[in-house]
Amino acid sequence: SLHLDPIRVVKNPEGSMSRAAMNGSVLAKERRDKRIQDAKDEAKEKARDDPLVKIQAKETANMTAAQEWRRKQATASYGKRTDLPMQEQRRGLPVYKMREELLAVVRANQFLVIVGETGSGKTTQITQYLAEEGFGDTGIIACTQPRRVAAVSVAKRVAEEVGCKVGAEVGYSVRFENETSEATKIKYMTDGMLQQEAIVDPNMSRYSVVMLDEAHERTIATDVLFALLKDACARRPDLKIIVTSATLDSDKFSKYFNDCPVVTIPGRTFPVEVMYTREPEADYLQSTIDAVMQIHMFEPVGDILVFLTGQEEIEASCETLYERVKALGSSAPELIILPVYSALSSEMQSKIFEETPSGARKVVLATNIAETSITIDGIFYVVDPGFVKINAYDAKLGMDSLVVSPISQAQANQRAGRAGRTGPGKCYRLYTESAFKREMLPNTVPEIQRTNLTYMILMLKVMGINDLLHFEFMDPPPASAMIMALEELFRISALDDDGFLTPLGRKMADFPMEPTLAKTLIASVEHGCSEEILSIVSLLSVQTIFYRPKDKQEQADKKKARFHHPHGDHLTFLNVYNAYLQNGCTRTWCQDNFIQDRSMKRVLEVRRQLVAIMKRSRHELISCGARTDSVRKALVAGFFKNTAKKSPTDPFYQTLAENTPVYMHPSSALFGKTSSSNGQYVLYHTLLLTTKEYMHCVTVIDPKWLVALAPTFFKVAESNTKKQKIVPLFNRHEKDQDAWRLSRGRGTAEGQ
Ligand code: CDP
Ligand code: MG
Repeated sequence: SLHLDPIRVVKNPEGSMSRAAMNGSVLAKERRDKRIQDAKDEAKEKARDDPLVKIQAKETANMTAAQEWRRKQATASYGKRTDLPMQEQRRGLPVYKMREELLAVVRANQFLVIVGETGSGKTTQITQYLAEEGFGDTGIIACTQPRRVAAVSVAKRVAEEVGCKVGAEVGYSVRFENETSEATKIKYMTDGMLQQEAIVDPNMSRYSVVMLDEAHERTIATDVLFALLKDACARRPDLKIIVTSATLDSDKFSKYFNDCPVVTIPGRTFPVEVMYTREPEADYLQSTIDAVMQIHMFEPVGDILVFLTGQEEIEASCETLYERVKALGSSAPELIILPVYSALSSEMQSKIFEETPSGARKVVLATNIAETSITIDGIFYVVDPGFVKINAYDAKLGMDSLVVSPISQAQANQRAGRAGRTGPGKCYRLYTESAFKREMLPNTVPEIQRTNLTYMILMLKVMGINDLLHFEFMDPPPASAMIMALEELFRISALDDDGFLTPLGRKMADFPMEPTLAKTLIASVEHGCSEEILSIVSLLSVQTIFYRPKDKQEQADKKKARFHHPHGDHLTFLNVYNAYLQNGCTRTWCQDNFIQDRSMKRVLEVRRQLVAIMKRSRHELISCGARTDSVRKALVAGFFKNTAKKSPTDPFYQTLAENTPVYMHPSSALFGKTSSSNGQYVLYHTLLLTTKEYMHCVTVIDPKWLVALAPTFFKVAESNTKKQKIVPLFNRHEKDQDAWRLSRGRGTAEGQ
């Protein structure tokens, strides 16, 4: 019978991406008026040469930033984002002039490095040029992104330009979401997904071209892919690799890829006036809000881009801004407030690209994602508090933690540059010039040199790469970090005594997540609670599910308390999830209970994907019902290293591994609740370093489980008193000798 699939687009008989499809979207928009654009261009040209702009930049130094912003009014009425027909827009991008040259260099070389300003059209255009020239006929054209939001939004944009549905000729693949089909010729994906694919297909045989985009971000996955792809290329002369970067690391990349050619796309940017604060800001969130309000009330048209560190901060600031504008009543022009972070739903994501209606102003509050991966047109003002949340290895704690840390000078400049894409812009740095010069590092440290390497090493082991010392890293991670990761994999039984992959380790690699989480999932089957752990792991994959608006904190806290489980946050999460399900997963229920509707939708999606992996890998789905002790045991099986014991004398806990003082986060269900009888030992999901080291997502455990479930890590200590003491095992082997042995490796890994 005839089956009609609404997403699939019929393949054209020539087998290549149809030109008609690529041009289709043009016609629809051709009607728009081009004259408006010309007028705007003229205004821009004038503004560029306006001597006032230069003079004012000098004056700035003698005023506080706030005074300055108030005083400075329009110098020129800058154009806003134009709604040109799409093909015309495409031709207007700087990369377009390089089209023929780029294609010629790709044809003649296996490797190519492309450097160009953000917004020049690298990500959206080059894949299309390649497809137009038939590179999509012999294999898929892949383009990797360090962030999932970028991969998704860019795929949508390109599908629009090509004139197809997402998932047809143009698709994407990110963790827990795959929108591709037989027809897909251009595939945007996270670098993590391509790395995961390399496990089963080290030759990358499905692909004709791989574009490693945003290579300057130097994520671990991109760094690993450098080496894996170089290796694959030696076996596949027809495979093409394109590395793109927004900054000038090009020489290093070129050298690594056998001195390959570098093509630079001439930029098209306008001057950006950079302003600093006079004094360091005590509360950067407060100053951020003030800055946005100042711009909104006193600066000429143009949208604002604000860089914050995470979902929670962004949601809270959106809330505050909304209240501030509302309080001004009709005296304030409309302010469209838009959050951007990685867990954002796709419908919200597309809103950020919508043109701002005239008379209104848009403010986008984004994480680091807007630094290079996403280009939002019409931005004239950037507010940069100078911070970013990164995953960093903390030697004192012996593990990764999320840290809010200062950005590098390169990042600060990149951020400022975002204001100069459509016309001359302004960047408000909420830090002093001397902080910029003296306290910020010139460049960002590659992730591989600062974070936990367990996942990466597990991946390499699964690929049979045991000789880590001779793996061709562009910048090798510190040996100590590699040893630590090997040790950790051994502790969670992913590696055996000799550093070889165990069958359990092989199973962990099926899950695209930290090995500790994978271990927890696998262990949950044994403990008879995989249904519950699946829900908890899905909940942990979103940043926050609770919603706590500033003016209703008390009310929100009360509602949250009703979900509190006496054993802590993991089971509290489970309570929320179950209640959400029982109440039909509705938005109203979420609103009534101060739960983030968007986050919960994503939780459902993640869970659905995890269930698919569980089934594929033949892990049973079982529920433990009310016997939630098994849930806590399964958590211990994965997270036994993240455990702490209440200090008998002080208000803090001490980690069992390193004795470091850590505090209960005030958002925990256990905050202020643990008595010595029930909360002596706890397990936590992550540590967040702010003023103190805070445990996030905490659950009470029974110390006996540690010895039973993690015998390679804990034992019962000899003690004079009758009371048992749990201590970590440290001297399993001579550490150095062990490391030497582990990193040398032999033969192929087990379980392949
Ligand atoms: O990769 P690169 O930074 O060089 O530029 P791009 O991401 O290809 O962006 C080229 C143009 O497409 C910019 O003007 C973007 O604003 C636009 N774009 C868009 O409108 N919507 C998207 N989702 C992505 C890009
Ligand atoms: Mg790009």
